[in-house]
Amino acid sequence: MVETDNLLKRVNTGIYGYDEMLNGGFFKQTVNVISGESGTGKTVLGSQFIYQAAQNGEKALCIMTTESANSLKKEMYSSFKWDFWELEQKGMVSFIDIADPELRLQKTIDMAPMELIKSFKKLITHKIEEYQPDRIFIDAVEALLLAIESPYKLKTLVDDLFSILRISDVTTMVSVGTTFEIESVVEYGADSVTRLGRVVSGNNLQRSIYVAKLRGSGTINEIRVLNISDSGIRVLDQSPYITTG
Ligand SMILES: Nc1ncnc2c1ncn2[C@@H]1O[C@H](COP(=O)(O)OP(=O)(O)OP(=O)(O)O)[C@@H](O)[C@H]1O
Ligand SMILES: [Mg+2]
Repeated sequence: MVETDNLLKRVNTGIYGYDEMLNGGFFKQTVNVISGESGTGKTVLGSQFIYQAAQNGEKALCIMTTESANSLKKEMYSSFKWDFWELEQKGMVSFIDIADPELRLQKTIDMAPMELIKSFKKLITHKIEEYQPDRIFIDAVEALLLAIESPYKLKTLVDDLFSILRISDVTTMVSVGTTFEIESVVEYGADSVTRLGRVVSGNNLQRSIYVAKLRGSGTINEIRVLNISDSGIRVLDQSPYITTG
């Protein structure tokens, strides 16, 4: 029973307006996918998810598959003044950078796709044991999966990767871009799916967000405005289709 209660606990994302859309947050020990086209805010949302956690004394692991960890730290500092260097020094955030030669994953192009995933899973398992994070953010997971041609293999690998994350005492956010059209398989395997997008509203472009699924819970069935400003992401109680002002 205690175990069950633990699994039913909600994890606040700490992102204004987003927890309300999720009826209180993600469930503990789940894998939560954020999908959307390039530039819709996936990396910012994931970074904010771990930044908020670190501010509240929770440890986070951030896994970068495309951008280097250093670029992310620079971007988040220049955009929002979030100091990931400091958080890393304090031991609150740890980065895995796929380009890091120490990780021996740098030759992604030369490495067979199955081998890449295998070593990635090993690396994650080892890092979770060693670092014991409360939250994990994997950015642009498609980079690990796009060389896999068989849908069956793709689905099996996604299920496999997600099940490793679920057995650990962490709550995970995974972002997936839509450029290579594999997001539906990634979404299928996830406990929740949030889609980010852009909507033409009059002469403006509005950022949009909606929760497409949340296993085990109701959600707000609305598309809302996702606002990015110098203080980060906020979800507004507003439809992106209605021009205001
Ligand atoms: N301080 C700020 N105020 C307003 N918008 C900002 C600010 N800082 C960054 N942005 C915007 O946030 C967006 C960043 O989006 P992000 O990098 O999260 O997209 P993404 O979905 O991860 O894209 P990709 O798939 O290409 O990685 C950019 O379009 C940028 O202009
Ligand atoms: Mg990104």
